[in-house]
Parts: sequence; structure tokens; C-alpha cells
Amino acid sequence: MCGIVGYIGNRQAAPIILDGLAKLEYRGYDSAGVAVFDGSKIHTEKAAGRLAVLEHLTRGGETMPGFSGIGHTRWATHGAPSDLNAHPHTNKQGTIAVVHNGIIENYIPLKKKLEKKGYEFVSETDTEILAKLLDYYYKGNPLEAVTKVLHRVEGSYALGIMFADFPGELYAARKDSPLIVGRNDDGCFIASDVPAILKYTRTVYYMDNQEVACLKADDLQFYSVDEEELSKESVTIDWDADAAEKAGYEHFMLKEMYEQPKTITDTISPRIHENDIVIEELNMSDEELREIRKIHIVACGSAYHAGVTAKYVIEGLARIPVEVDVASEFRYRNPILEQGAMVIVISQSGETADTLAALRESKARGFKVLGIVNVVGSSIAREADSVMYTWAGPEIAVATTKAYSAQLVAMYMLAMKMAKVRGLVDEKTFGSLLSDLRCLPDQVEMLLAQKEKIQHFANRYVGAKDIFFIGRGVDHAISLEGSLKLKEISYVHSEAYAAGELKHGTISLIEDGTLVVAVSTQEDLFAKTISNIVEVKARGAFVMAVTNEGNKAIEKAADYVVYLPETCNWFTNSLAIIPLQLFAYYVALARGCDVDKPRNLAKSVTVE
Ligand code: M6R
Repeated sequence: MCGIVGYIGNRQAAPIILDGLAKLEYRGYDSAGVAVFDGSKIHTEKAAGRLAVLEHLTRGGETMPGFSGIGHTRWATHGAPSDLNAHPHTNKQGTIAVVHNGIIENYIPLKKKLEKKGYEFVSETDTEILAKLLDYYYKGNPLEAVTKVLHRVEGSYALGIMFADFPGELYAARKDSPLIVGRNDDGCFIASDVPAILKYTRTVYYMDNQEVACLKADDLQFYSVDEEELSKESVTIDWDADAAEKAGYEHFMLKEMYEQPKTITDTISPRIHENDIVIEELNMSDEELREIRKIHIVACGSAYHAGVTAKYVIEGLARIPVEVDVASEFRYRNPILEQGAMVIVISQSGETADTLAALRESKARGFKVLGIVNVVGSSIAREADSVMYTWAGPEIAVATTKAYSAQLVAMYMLAMKMAKVRGLVDEKTFGSLLSDLRCLPDQVEMLLAQKEKIQHFANRYVGAKDIFFIGRGVDHAISLEGSLKLKEISYVHSEAYAAGELKHGTISLIEDGTLVVAVSTQEDLFAKTISNIVEVKARGAFVMAVTNEGNKAIEKAADYVVYLPETCNWFTNSLAIIPLQLFAYYVALARGCDVDKPRNLAKSVTVE
């Protein structure tokens, strides 16, 4: 949700800021803007639409001289995407400029108070309140003005601020929205995420809640909201800048789908020790694992779907009851957490507001939280009691693919570990599960190699209005994810149903030619799913089945079959998702959609 970049140093700021914003456009792409101090005043340029519009307007930033500045790419919350609502926002004189990611919840009362004092507002945003409030508190000391504002505002924020009176300084602050500070010999940077500045530095500082940073070309200081100076340790980023580039692929999504074999390997390998699974980060003894009575999994979107799969796998293998909640619901339903419960939150970004709130809610009730997180150093990673990282590397496409696949295997490993310490799998079965786990990367690779076949099929459904995904057990879990993938990037309406549930109402939507994608990987449920296929076929549906190699019986019922290589019942989601991701991608591509940046979405959802 919104990307922020700031730079102060010895180089021209605007091109660096625009370059950084391009790496953050996945966070929002409704409008973009830059403010730089041009030697005598703050010069602001902003434009509705993609970053390309602003890049064109400023010739890649060249028309904006100056060595310090802030920039923003917006995902609109308050006010439509327009030039006026685009950030940076300024005070009336244009001597204070602000970029903001987050939501100021008390902006209406603050706005009324400021209006009574004669302030006029030109935009519909909550952010403009910050510029005017800074103006109100600014009496010649920028740090004092910033901290006073932070004491007055409620909600979430990551801020970049500049004062024309202090052109050699930039200010940054955060609460519940991500912000990092970077430093090299040429200057200092602020950014919402590492890829924005990775080209310039690997030395970063993760800002904590309610901290303020003052950046200069050759100095960097951190303060608390009470203006006490803080000392902070830097972190060296060890991943490669290329990981956040397209590397010749047409889209990040395609590249990231192709990275899945590696992602799975990177997530499982460090945790397989000879013939055992060792998850050191859990910080739990076997005895503690045995004492778990119930698991609550909380997440959003695809991460929630990984949780639904995990429910089947953990309950099936480790026989521990699992409840899975959408994070935005968990928080407000006064969930019953009883002694012996373990809470697991799953998040790629580690910044999803609802998931973070669920984590805090659980901790406040005295429960330990395990985070399954991809982004190192993110809020969830830092606030969880223990973190199991998914080693998927930077994921840029809004639609998650490789991070989701990494979440799945992380959850399989947890389930296996729990089953083993609880004595529910013998050595032989455990060994066979481990060997199936190790085979997944190659099997995913084999499925990716069938992309032309899926593309050919997808091209037939470019004009589809409704598509249904059905499955039973874990196949239902993967249907949820397949359906979401299709909807979010191709804008084709689709629904996922437990195959046996369709006849309780939704089957009335099936008509001649409606595509039904039936996932059937559970041998004991083949016959049941085939019956459901037959039911929809009788109403005119065209059925694409995704099933295991060898299940030839399905060919009699379905119109088109995609076969998956052999694995155990618990891991089939990791294979079934590949044709579903490819299908979504190619339908979106054929419909001319912006695959990596679907409309109305943002990669990291830091608002409720
Ligand atoms: O960063 P998170 O994993 O917490 O994000 C959760 C969802 O917002 C995310 O999975 C979303 O549903 C994706 N766009 C799905 O592709």
C-alpha cells in the first residue's frame, strides 16, 4: 500500500527517487509524485496514473535538480486517484512536503481543528492533514514539529518529510507501516522496501514503531517520539539485486512461477538434516510440540489458502485440531483461545495490517505466535515470538506464486515434525514423506514445462464470464487459490466450491459451455469427484480436470485432463497449483491485462 523513497546526498535526487519508486510500484500505482529541494525552494511534480506518466513529465527526474527529495507511488484510500490527491502534500507556502503510507484515523477531527485555525485543504486525503499539522507545529525546529505531530495522530504511517528551511535534512518516521533507512558513501535513503535502494546500498536500518530518523548527506540519527537519541544497528542485505528484476521474463509473475522449484528447495533444504526435519527457529522442544492441543492459523488471501491446506495436512498427519481464520475476521470475533493453543500467522510481506493485528491480539492474550514470513525484518517477523522464514526471495508481482508455494512446503514440514514427535508416523512413513518432499522441486519443474499446453487451453477461455473450481479435501483448498489467482489478474469471475457443495445452490449457474475446473488428487475421493463432474457435465459444463498420473478413469467424465506426477496425498497442492497459476496467467495475458499490477490491488495491504 503506497511506496515511499527518499534520498539526500551528493547525487541528483530525482532520478534516484524515480528509480526506487519503479521498484515499489507493486505497492500502489494510482498516482506518483516527487518533491526535491532545488536550491531555493521545494519543487513538486505529481501525476495521476502509473509512474511512467511522472517519468515522462520529468524526463526520468532530469528536469528536477537538487540533492534531496522524497517520492511516492500511491494506492488510493482517501480520495480518488488524481493529480490533487497524489503525494507529496505540502503546506500552503510549499515549504514543508510530506509523503505518507498508511491511514491517519483521526484526520477528520484534526482537519476540523485546523480549519478553525484558518488552514485550507485542497485534497481529499488524510495525508494533507500531516502537512498542515507540521506547519502548525513548526517553530524553527523540524524534529520538534515531527514528534509533536506524531503525538497527535492516530493510525498507521510511514513518512518522508522535508523542510525548505533545512535543505540538508530529510525526516522519516513510522508506525505500523514499513520503512527502512539505507546509507552509503554518497548519502542516505528511505524506502518502503529493500529493492528500492538495493542498487545503491546493502546497509539498511529497520525502523521500529514510533521512531524518527533524521538523514543528512553524511550523517544519520534516530530518535524516539520523545526526541531521545537512539542507537540502531544496521543490517546487511545479502540477497542479490537481480532477484528483484525481471531477468528477461515478460512479467514478474512468470519469472516468479519459474522460480518455484528453487523456492521450494531453499525453504526445505536448510531444515532437512539427514533423515529428520529440524526447525530450529521454532524454539520449541519436542515436549512442547507434543503439548499443543489446538492450532489457530490466521492469514489473508493466498496465505489464508495456504492455511486451509495446512489444516488438512496437520490434522491428517499430526491429528491436532486446526482452525483457520481470515485475519480481518479473527481480530473482531473475540476468538476462543484456550490453554495449549498455538497461533500461526502466515504472510509473504510480513506487513499485512489484519494479520499483524491478529498476531498482536493473540500475544496480548498471552499466546505465543509463530510467523511464517517471507520478508526478512518485516513487522510480523519482528513481532512474532518465533519466525520460520520462507526463502522465496523478493516477490514483486501482486499475485503471489512462489511465496505461496514456499508457505505450503513450510506448513508440510511443520505437520511432519509434529506428527513425528507425537509418534504418529513411523520411520518408514516419515522417510517416504521426506522423499516426496524432496521430489517436489523437480516435479514442479516438469509441470512448468507444460506451459504451452495450458496456454493453448487458456486461450479458449479468454471470453469466459464465469469459471468454477471444484475439489474435495485438500483439492478444495487448492481450488480456492486457483480461483483467486484467476480473478485477481484476469478479472474473470470465478468461484471455488467444495465439489459436494455445488449442488446446494450454485449448480444453477452452470450452463452450456461454462468452464468447471475439477481438481481430483485424492484417491479415496476420485469416485465422489467424478460424480460431481458428471453432474455439471449434465448441465452443459466443459470440464478441465487436474488429477494424478494414472487416473485414466477421469478421461471418461472430463473433457480435458492435466496430469500431475505422483506424490503423497498431503503434498498434491504443491503440484496442482502449477497448472492453475499458468491458466490464470495465460487467460490474463490473452485478455490484455496488466498481469503484474492488476487493477485496484497492491502487493502489501497495510490498511484494514
Ligand atoms: O503479504 P501477505 O501474504 O500477508 O498478503 C496476503 C494477501 O494480501 C495476498 O496473499 C493476496 O491475496 C495476493 N494478492 C494473492 O495473490
